[in-house]
Amino acid sequence: MKLDEAKALDRAHLLNLYTPIRMPMVMARGEGARVWDTEGKEYLDFVSGGRAVTGIGHCHPKVTAAICEQARTLIHMSNDFFTMPQLRLAKRLSTLFGGRCFLCNSGAEANEAAIKLARKHGFKTVGPEKSEIVSALKSFHGRTLATLAATGQPKYHKGFQPLPAGFVHVPFNDVEALKGAVNERTCAVLLEPILGESGVYPATPEYLGAARELCDQQGAALILDEVQTGLGRTGKMFAFEHYDIRPDVMTLAKALGGGLPIGAMIAREPVASAFEPGDHASTFGGSALPAAAAVATLDVIESERLPENAARIGKRLAAGLLEMRADGLPVAEVRERGCMIAVDLTAPQAAWVKDECATRGLLINTVGDQMLRLLPPMILTEREADRGLEMLRAVLAAAPRA
Ligand SMILES: Cc1ncc(COP(=O)(O)O)c(C=O)c1O
Repeated sequence: MKLDEAKALDRAHLLNLYTPIRMPMVMARGEGARVWDTEGKEYLDFVSGGRAVTGIGHCHPKVTAAICEQARTLIHMSNDFFTMPQLRLAKRLSTLFGGRCFLCNSGAEANEAAIKLARKHGFKTVGPEKSEIVSALKSFHGRTLATLAATGQPKYHKGFQPLPAGFVHVPFNDVEALKGAVNERTCAVLLEPILGESGVYPATPEYLGAARELCDQQGAALILDEVQTGLGRTGKMFAFEHYDIRPDVMTLAKALGGGLPIGAMIAREPVASAFEPGDHASTFGGSALPAAAAVATLDVIESERLPENAARIGKRLAAGLLEMRADGLPVAEVRERGCMIAVDLTAPQAAWVKDECATRGLLINTVGDQMLRLLPPMILTEREADRGLEMLRAVLAAAPRA
């Protein structure tokens, strides 16, 4: 399919949501850290499928085999029945985190479930007044109405009010503001351990420590949204492992299905027991096919020691980017946590850099007009990292000076 045909079909048959942000290529095939468009052009994928999903690379043979095998055996039976892939996945996730799971289909759904669980816990332990959720400004938690209300970015709220009530936003990494916001009405503090969509800003240990302490004092749940940071991307299996705390509830999605849509909310006691039969459900949640893919994905992440590779590759990329700054290229600051990297530029040239990188065969992301975001897959080799750096260096060297 040619680009013009794709654009025409998009305009005619899809709601006008993605059109302005779509890159000018029709993607046809992927393997490891590389993808090809319908013209046969090859790209090095430093965005893991665009939004940090294909952490184990595209079409990992072990996950593809598991999907094919499961597709031949049983694709779906609802939660009215037991199915083996779902139970295997739940056991793996529960063992990794130490809790019990609700399986769903996306990050927003996982956060929505976490919000409902925390509300129910507040309701049962105190009453309906214990229902406030405290979250951070600049956070991103999803596009359903409750997760939108939790998302601390007014630009996403505009036009969708009234949003569900009971959400309070505080500046990220501001311990005093958090202390001022958490009180006896708080049922949960919901945080990303590293702000992802806003540009790779890690929580300070003091901030997450204070969140843990305040939740303990008030009998509230600490929910960490690890939809983007979880499953190895930051150099540890979960980002909270970089800190000296454990959340009560953790949410996952993105990398979990190796490319298939699946999400998980995992909760520890006593919060986990707040849900009773009928409180929450999903027709597709934990369906056999994506669950089998997720089990295979976890096998790959563990057996190939991908968190360690993510840490190693992240350091190599950050070092290369800092070298570019030392060489006078327009790099102002680099923030790296494994395969989650943001690059502040010295001028508002992010869109130009992204487009030029794509022309040369490197896919990257932008945040605003002056920040680049790299979310390469955790399977990236040193050679691929160096090739990506080379392309980025050439683009930055050619960037028009402000
Ligand atoms: C931290 C975080 N939470 C939640 C979401 C929403 O996930 P989904 O798009 O799968 O609903 C995202 C998506 O970018 C995210 O980065």
